[in-house]
Amino acid sequence: METMTTLTSPAEFTIQRPNYSHTSAIRWVFSHVIRHNWVIVMVFLGAFGNAALAALVPVLVGDAFNAMLQPMPDTRALIPLALLIGGTQVIRGILQLGRNFGAELLGQRLEAEIRDELYISLLGKSMTFHSLQPVGDTMARATNDVREINLMFNPGMNLVIGSFFFLVMPIVAAPRYHPALLITPVLFAIAYFASLARYLKTLQPISDEVRASFGNMNSHLSESLDGVETVKGAAQEDSEVERFVLNAKRVRDAFIKQGDIEARFIAFLLYGIAIALGLTHALFLFREGLLNTGQVIAYFGLLRMLDFPTFTSSWAYTQVSMGLAGARRILELINRETDLDQNAAGHSAEMKGEIEFRNVTFTYPDTERAQRVSDSGESVLNSVSFKVKPGQTVAVVGQTGAGKTSLVKLINRTYDINDGQVLVDGMDVREWNLASLRSQISMIEQDIFLFSRSISENIAFGRPGATQDEVEAAGKAAQAHDFIETFEKGYETVIGERGVTLSGGQRQRLALGRAFMTDPRILILDDSTSAIDSATEDKIQRAISAAARGRTTFIITHRLSQIRWADLIIVLRKGRVAAMGTHDELMQTSDAYSRIFQE
Ligand code: UTP
Ligand code: MG
Repeated sequence: METMTTLTSPAEFTIQRPNYSHTSAIRWVFSHVIRHNWVIVMVFLGAFGNAALAALVPVLVGDAFNAMLQPMPDTRALIPLALLIGGTQVIRGILQLGRNFGAELLGQRLEAEIRDELYISLLGKSMTFHSLQPVGDTMARATNDVREINLMFNPGMNLVIGSFFFLVMPIVAAPRYHPALLITPVLFAIAYFASLARYLKTLQPISDEVRASFGNMNSHLSESLDGVETVKGAAQEDSEVERFVLNAKRVRDAFIKQGDIEARFIAFLLYGIAIALGLTHALFLFREGLLNTGQVIAYFGLLRMLDFPTFTSSWAYTQVSMGLAGARRILELINRETDLDQNAAGHSAEMKGEIEFRNVTFTYPDTERAQRVSDSGESVLNSVSFKVKPGQTVAVVGQTGAGKTSLVKLINRTYDINDGQVLVDGMDVREWNLASLRSQISMIEQDIFLFSRSISENIAFGRPGATQDEVEAAGKAAQAHDFIETFEKGYETVIGERGVTLSGGQRQRLALGRAFMTDPRILILDDSTSAIDSATEDKIQRAISAAARGRTTFIITHRLSQIRWADLIIVLRKGRVAAMGTHDELMQTSDAYSRIFQE
């Protein structure tokens, strides 16, 4: 039985996976490989058999020569030898196939397994991790580095193992003719491994550099494609191209450096020396009468087997080195700490929806900006306190950058606070089981994200398996039904396909539909978009009041019509509560509040 543990804890989301070692890249890859034991057996048997039967050819050819060099040559002796060579080479072909097949299978399986492991681990990382880790770099690791691990097995390890046995065979077979003939293959093997060790040592930092510069290029590329509208809007295409060219140059230079080191690998020289030395040695023994002609020829044929390790060595080991560099990068990502703990053992219960902030102070983690802000002693949120009863509607208002979005993200622990307490139903959010907490809070973000899937699937995102009727009911409640029906395929319309994109107001109503589907106890609506025509505004207004009914609702908005009927209005200014109360109270008492409506 395999032991099962949860993947890298602490994490926000875990899934049962086999117990892989995470201490070093080699051990990690090995812990994956070892689970495919019969494939490994196949690779090694195939490699060994292939080499052994390849060594048989020069041995048999030597015998044939000796048969011919008899005073009375008997040509009939050649026929069984020829048949033997033919037969064994067919078997050799099959064994070689086994080796190649096994290595390919191992490579593909590992690629899939590691990709899964990485994906699960990425889903388990906190938002802190994701906001600090560039998407392009993650993409490069999840695609190219994982692919390098595949290539590390085939052709990489395949040829390393295959050629290793070719190195061993002359050492095994040479003493058959004369023990002294061991000298050349043994010396070759020693020199070969010594130069290989040096080669791999110089290669490793270059492999790391190749992988890193590639990831870097990818992350810049994905960023500028993501922001292509901004780039074009600011007519910055040229400078973006320049940056890309610079990054591409770095990748190229790293590859050239790698090629340079490969070219300096001295295995070819060693091979030449070995052939010359071995032949001289054999001829010397021949003159002394210690070897006959057939034996010299067989020995020479055995030495020729060393060309396989020689020719594959430079690039097969490079492949392995690149694969290990990729493995290090993936493992680094998997192992990187994620700050939030899902607290599986925590409080899990049906939520009433009471929320309290007690002296909450919050700064974004570890960014340069956060550093600057905290150096100046100013946090994104400063001693924020308020209390909301279940079912109430809270409007959060304030100028841009005041900290509105940041405030609501603390409720479902998208980020953890630095000081103070956030309580839901009188319980610190950190005491809650994270999944229980989040499943009862629905957040509609400032920029609503829709998946490139059907409208139905987008609405039912929080509740896969919902029926079509339920989805349509949610669509109606969210005032989205009418515009969805205008699409030719209705709810089955795939967003992003054939030019189907949605306006801000439409996206918002789909997101509200999502909220209706999951029926959360707390609804958070970050609605800072303002320019929407009054007909749509009216619809959204109606959808929001329907959604707010019967649950605690936070609305971040600039629209007076929405703010008015809130039970509590929180006015934020530069991360502090500037005023708090109902609309009527605030209109009379707060300058800050009335000023918002004058902007
Ligand atoms: P908010 O994003 O909370 O401001 O950022 P807001 O009130 O919602 O603003 P609008 O109305 O949507 O525009 C508050 C502060 O936190 C910083 C921002 O720079 C801002 O000064 N911040 C925000 C970060 O440092 N990191 C982030 O990931 C987000
Ligand atoms: Mg905001």
